[in-house]
Parts: sequence; structure tokens; C-alpha cells
Amino acid sequence: MCGIIAYIGKPDKTLHVLIEGLKRLEYRGYDSAGIAVLGSSGIRIVKSEGKLLNLLSRLEGVSLNGSPGLGHTRWATHGVPSERNAHPHVSGKTVVVHNGIIENYQELKDELRRKGYRFNSDTDTEVIAHLIEDFSLKGFSLEESVREAFKLLEGTYAVAVISEREPNKVVGIRKFLPLILAIGDGEVFLASDIPAVLPFTRNVVLLEDGDIAILEKNRFRITDPEGREVKRDVFSIDWDPITVEKGGYKHFMLKEIHEQPQAVLDTIRGRVFLEEGRVFLKGIEDSWVADVNRIVAVGCGTSYHACLVGRYMIEKLSRIPVDVDLASEFRYREPVVDEKTLVIAVSQSGETADTSYALLEAKRRGAKTLAITNVFGSKIARESDVVVYTHAGPEIGVASTKSFTAQLVVFYLLSLFLGISRNRLTDAYSLQLIKDILALPQLLQHVLRLDSEISALAGEFYKYKNFIYLGRGLNYPIALEGALKLKEVSYIHAEGYAAGEMKHGPIALIDEKMPVVVVAPQDELLYRKLVGNIQEVKTRKGRVILLTSKGSVNEFYGWVDRFVEIPKTPYLISPLISVVPLQLLAYYIASYRGTDIDQPRNLAKVVTVE
Ligand code: F6R
Repeated sequence: MCGIIAYIGKPDKTLHVLIEGLKRLEYRGYDSAGIAVLGSSGIRIVKSEGKLLNLLSRLEGVSLNGSPGLGHTRWATHGVPSERNAHPHVSGKTVVVHNGIIENYQELKDELRRKGYRFNSDTDTEVIAHLIEDFSLKGFSLEESVREAFKLLEGTYAVAVISEREPNKVVGIRKFLPLILAIGDGEVFLASDIPAVLPFTRNVVLLEDGDIAILEKNRFRITDPEGREVKRDVFSIDWDPITVEKGGYKHFMLKEIHEQPQAVLDTIRGRVFLEEGRVFLKGIEDSWVADVNRIVAVGCGTSYHACLVGRYMIEKLSRIPVDVDLASEFRYREPVVDEKTLVIAVSQSGETADTSYALLEAKRRGAKTLAITNVFGSKIARESDVVVYTHAGPEIGVASTKSFTAQLVVFYLLSLFLGISRNRLTDAYSLQLIKDILALPQLLQHVLRLDSEISALAGEFYKYKNFIYLGRGLNYPIALEGALKLKEVSYIHAEGYAAGEMKHGPIALIDEKMPVVVVAPQDELLYRKLVGNIQEVKTRKGRVILLTSKGSVNEFYGWVDRFVEIPKTPYLISPLISVVPLQLLAYYIASYRGTDIDQPRNLAKVVTVE
């Protein structure tokens, strides 16, 4: 994972750019951080184990003028989190920051050792620095050295390099992992993602696999691995830099939970036409889906849960059968897909390795592919036939919240499109479904007013060691998602189950020490059965926290421990509403426990390893 940033431009601005960039990249890993600046007395490196804060306190009072500069925030793969393994890594006059994994690093390391190179870390990255230095010593330019070195490297990477031999250059290269170039006034940047450079410029180039970027302060060139110049478009990004700040909230997670009305509004906008009773998803025509006889949806973590909800929606509205698979399992099962299968890859970041490989496998087997992602120009977006973007805006908190609800909106719109396209829906029903989704932002505003009530609830329950979450139908994946959120940010063990499964084993866990969160919005089919499941838990002294629709609370008075009343919604909308109190519950429980909510231990926002 890891985040990288590089800058060439104004010497008195370099340190500021690197620090601001790293603050915005820290979600990618926070095991260590470091910077390198090339000044008049050579390259200076400052690094520190742990979070960026540690690096910042080391930098206090240090004046570091110079250009170019590199910055890195690490999620450890090879070598424990420590200062010794923190980037940048140096060999002679060459300095390198790296995101990714060099798979053949051990052979290269042995070879380099035989040549007399000494290793000062346990990382795979250090071989990159030594290899580039080795070519430079043979008389190659920095650009040529990078090109030659990378011919020998296997794996996935985004790398930025500077050298004291050519102080007016930065060279960047990417294979499979994200790297963008950004252009300012007399300055050029490289970064792992767009928000890192937003305080400084909006003009961005999305580098492609195999691109080598050569940056100078007033210009840049991009070449292919053979050194032939290639042209890439410059995009102007319209994200507001303020959306990547906390905006008065204590954590990004809480801010992003509260941004959900806007995120879903932006995701719906321009895609539904009430008067015509139509849904428009750019790139998806009736003819493109006409021969699709099966859909497979793949994703990881929260995005996988979105796929599970998507299955209910698509099957209900279009009657096309849907299978859902964990992206990490799909690829290795010799999946049965063909040209009549539509494979939907869901990923907030658009960079998750498991999901990307699943997508490539589906393509290799001839399937049609569609990506649902939040990040413009991301790997998964580029690899699929069609992309439907969630317009949730940048999500910085490691736990996914607003991107999940935006993914559900896309599934809803897609289901509606498929239902209409297959003539499965009456005009009146499609119109109603469109009205329902248009009402969602306001419903979300309502449910967010539960904030302080949920905070109080969290205050009662934060000391428990285990939780169970139950749901049925569309809200079964929401139970899974509620449990995942709690685990991630509070480190409490939590399990989500389909409520009907309780009696097949998990019920043995129930006693007075087990809070059971039941997601039971009142709907036509499953509500009665859930009431039965709640009774099963109560009989065994479990502590029930019930999430149910306004109006159905009365029947539970006296025998359920706590209620959370959510607005009554149409069935297909209910998961989009019921997930919000669960996100808040996880957030506030974590807050009582004092965990690091935006950067929970061992996690990173972008998971680019298998
Ligand atoms: C949970 C969470 C992770 C991600 C998963 C997939 O809150 O954030 O489980 O959902 O790593 O990430 P994306 O959606 O970027 O592919």
C-alpha cells in the first residue's frame, strides 16, 4: 500500500508540499514516514517510525530548503515497522520511495551483495535504490538507469527517484499501482493519489502502467519502458480541497458518515429522469446487456457487502440470476463465466489488488465487465469495459462509510435500468422506484439526527467484548457490514449472521454478556420472522439492541433492551438507511474506547497486495 509524493519546483515550498501531501496520504499506511530534500549541501533525509506526527515533531525547527524532494508513508510488507525500514531508501547518490512489492528482491539482493552493496534495511525497496545506483555508476543517466533497473524488477510498484548526480530531475515509474503527475506554476508533482496535490493544483495526468515520468521544474515528459515518448491527457479535477479536510468533525469517519446525503445525491444526479421514468448510466445501453444471462459481483470487505445487497436488488427487479464472490476467492476457483456473463467489480479505491485480479480473470474468460468505483481513472476503472462512478467524494477514513451507501445507490440504479430494459417492471412501478431513490437524501438527513442518541447507546455498550449482528434479506449484508465496522474501528470481536442461521449454531454463544444488534426494519416479508428470532435471543438472556422502523416499536416494549427507531422506507431503500445507525454505533463505541478511528491498527485504506 504506502503513499508516495515527489515535488520539484520552489526550494522554500518543498517541505510544505511533502508534509501536506503526506497528511493526505497517511490513510494508505502509517507504520512510518519519511522525507528527502535535495539542498545545496546534498540530500537530507528525515524519517521516523509510526505515524506522521512523529516525523513532524522531528522536523520541528528544522529548516530544509531545496528541490526536488520525496515523501513516503509506509504500510509494512517486507521488514517490520521501524525507522531502519522507513523510506526514503538511499544508495550512494540515489534516493528512492516505493509503493508495492518487488517479488524477485531476494535474488537481486544476493546479486547486489556479491557486487559489494551493503543493505541497511530489510525492505524489498532497497534493491531498487542499489540497482539504479549501479546503472548510474556505469555512466547511465538517471532516466536510463531507472529504465534499465526496472527491466530487472518483477512485481508491482509505483516509485519516485531523485539523484544528487542530476539535481534538476525527479523520475517516476508505475506498474499496476497508482501514480499521478500534477502540474503547477513552475512546479511538478508525483503522488499516489489526487487529494495529495489538491491544495496546490487541479491539473492532473493519470499515468498508465509502464509509464516513466521525467519531471523538471517547468516541464515534464512521459515515456514508455523503451524510452519512446508517449502523450497523456491533462485533466482538471473539480474536487474541492476542503472535502479532504475534517471540516470541524473530530474524525474523518464521522464527517464522512454525515456526508452521506450529499454523496448519494451526487451519485443519483443526472442518472434518473422522473418524467420519462428512465435511468441513464453512461456506457450502458440496452444492447450491451441484452444477451446477459448471469451476473457475478465481486469485491472485498465493505464492497463485498455492497455486492450482497446488489444481488437482492438486481434479482428482484430484473430477474437476472446473480452470484456474489469475494474477489480474493473468485480468481482461484476457475470461475465459470463466459461472454454472456456480466462481471461487476466493486471497489471504493479502484486499486484493490484482489478485485483487480478478479476483473482481469473475468476478462480473460470473455465476460463483459463493469466497475463500480469512487476513484476517477483508477486501475479497476481503466481495466473494465464500462465504469459507473460513485460520486461520494474522497473518502479518507480507513473504514468505508459514504462510499458504501453510494455503491448501493449504483446497484439500485443498475437494477432499475436492467428491470426496465428487460420489461420486468410496469411503468408505474419504475416511476415509484425512481421517486423512492430521489427521496433518499432527505431520509438520510433524518436518520443522521440519531447521532446523539447512538452516542449515548454506545456509552452503555462499549465495554462488551463480543457482539452479534442479525439481519434478514436485504438487511443480512447490513448485519455483516455493521459487524465489520465495529471490528475495524473498535477492535471488538463481532459477527454478522443471517438471523435464520442463529438456531443452526451461533445461538450457543448467547448469554447476558452478548449484545445482539438486530436489524429489523418493518417490511412485507421478513419482519415477522425476525420477531421470532429476537424472541429466541431474549429467551437465552441476550441483550437485544433493535433497529426497527418508526411505528413498530410498541410491540417490543418490555422485552427488548434498547431501540433505535429509523424512518420507515420502501423495502429496497431500507439497507441504505439501516446501515447509518450501525456506522454511528461503531464510531461512538470506538470513540469511548479511545481507538485510532481514522487509522485503525494494521489496516490501510488501499490494499494493493493479494
Ligand atoms: C471496510 C473497508 C475495507 C474495504 C476493502 C475493499 O471499512 O474499508 O473492507 O472495503 O478493503 O476496498 P475497496 O472498496 O477500495 O476495494
